Amino acid sequence: MPPTIAVIPGDGIGKEVTAQAVSVLTAVGDRFGRRFDLVHLPWSADHYLETGVTIPPDGYDTLRGFDAIFIGALGDPRVPDNRHARDILLGTRFELDLYVNHRPVRLLDERLCPLKGRQPRDVDFTVFRENTEGVYVGIGGRFKAGTEDEIAIQEEVNTWKGVDRIVRHAFEFARARGKTKVCMADKSNAMTHGHALWQRVFKEVAARYPRIEATHYYIDALAMYMVLDPGQFQVIVTNNLFGDIITDLAATFQGGLGMAASGNIHPGRTSMFEPVHGSAPRFAGKNIANPIGAISSAALMLETLGMKDEAAAIDAAVLTAVRENQVTADIGGKLGTREAGDYIAAAVRV
Ligand code: NAD
Ligand code: IPM
Ligand code: MN
Repeated sequence: MPPTIAVIPGDGIGKEVTAQAVSVLTAVGDRFGRRFDLVHLPWSADHYLETGVTIPPDGYDTLRGFDAIFIGALGDPRVPDNRHARDILLGTRFELDLYVNHRPVRLLDERLCPLKGRQPRDVDFTVFRENTEGVYVGIGGRFKAGTEDEIAIQEEVNTWKGVDRIVRHAFEFARARGKTKVCMADKSNAMTHGHALWQRVFKEVAARYPRIEATHYYIDALAMYMVLDPGQFQVIVTNNLFGDIITDLAATFQGGLGMAASGNIHPGRTSMFEPVHGSAPRFAGKNIANPIGAISSAALMLETLGMKDEAAAIDAAVLTAVRENQVTADIGGKLGTREAGDYIAAAVRV
């Protein structure tokens, strides 16, 4: 049976980059004699504005029935409260309990890095962002909203189980890949309750991995060291919000947001893959968005599904496109979204 994949192109450039990721999947299928059973779902701002439905009542169950989910991006200025993105993107992360946000940071070519003199060997680490807790749980409220007496509360939730499973995942990944260091970042000097839990759990888990060096930075210092000396990092584990922020920063090391890939994973269950970037409304419909973040996310999806050779073929084709400068303008090329995707698809078929 071919793997079944739900495809949600979503909004803005999400639609354009998803089309390229799908074409590269087809190419990899042709090369390896495989078929992927892709089912496109229309959930998006357009769909919400037409029907009033963000995700149907059985939507999460529908998604659970697939082997994997691929999302382009969600976000549209016509939906200012971002309700559909909350239901489709964050809702899927929560409802399918996709607690690992896996965001690789890999520089493919020196010329793409804004940091002076950095080579690919200096920028090669993985961020594990906790993906089901933190400030994203939406617990809180506003009292006397719109007045000068307004009080707004947004709680940060940290649970032992939630922190333990993401920290363990980071160490397990390090062990499986032969990495020697895991760095945890928190703000336990200011957030003395919630992040004391991160400190406790990190020490407990690290003690079970004596061959892996466990290091810690406060998140502000981590951001500084990422810029100053990215080569010291192999695996970073942090909470939901900090992970969101540092992976946009880390995307710039790789050539920009158009390059960065991610997976929202619950090991052994249906997981969801998407580029780190959003719908970039100003770029939408212009055939200028870089499809590599989406294409590399498709590779991460195949790798997670156990198709290592297929994933490696996509990664190699992306590397060729970058080395030959057959890429979009954001990373110094002259191609459009479609042409850049076509080049990678052709390189996969070789
Ligand atoms: P964004 O990632 O959409 O874009 C920020 C900037 O990054 C763009 O203006 C562009 O300069 C660059 N960029 C992003 N993707 C690119 C690509 N593929 N190729 C070339 N350049 C690219 O972030 P934003 O402007 O803050 O958010 C726009 C909308 O997307 C918002 O509604 C936001 O909530 C949403 N969003 C969605 C996701 C997601 O679906 N996973 C992620 C981030 C933001
Ligand atoms: C991301 C995005 C989302 C997040 C937004 C769209 C809610 O920025 O996937 O990185 O903050 O998780
Ligand atoms: Mn983000």
